Amino acid sequence: MSEILKTILETDSIARVNLAFMDKAHFEEVQIVKDLGELITAYQDETIESDATGQYEEKITVMLITWLRHTIASFSAENELMQQINFPTMQLHTQEHETELNRIKRIVRLWKTDKNITLLADFVFNFWPNWLIAHINSMDIMMARFAVMNGYRA
Ligand SMILES: [Fe+2]
Repeated sequence: MSEILKTILETDSIARVNLAFMDKAHFEEVQIVKDLGELITAYQDETIESDATGQYEEKITVMLITWLRHTIASFSAENELMQQINFPTMQLHTQEHETELNRIKRIVRLWKTDKNITLLADFVFNFWPNWLIAHINSMDIMMARFAVMNGYRA
């Protein structure tokens, strides 16, 4: 059996943007996805009793909805700040949020209809960790810096 490589982010693995509300949201998200990842791994583990499968499916669904809601809230807080400070590349950044939000919505929808754990695991362990790191490094840090330089105080 081939071993699937899983990336599990820790709060130490992501860069600080040095704006408290954004760092807090990133840490919370990392924790939510870590909890989700543990559920997925347990679900994939063949040692799970078959009568516990439904319970795990339900737990995964609840965690996915928590993640989706958290993402909606944190993206909209960032979007609001960008508007407030008139951030020059706001359109690009909000577009990136929109695209990612649609990806998460799609993954939740697919999970709810198909319970395809392989697809979900690939998103959670492969796509998303890389996306978050790249997004923070390329967009969030710059935006937070611009906000502080332009007088934003939390
Ligand atoms: Fe962002």
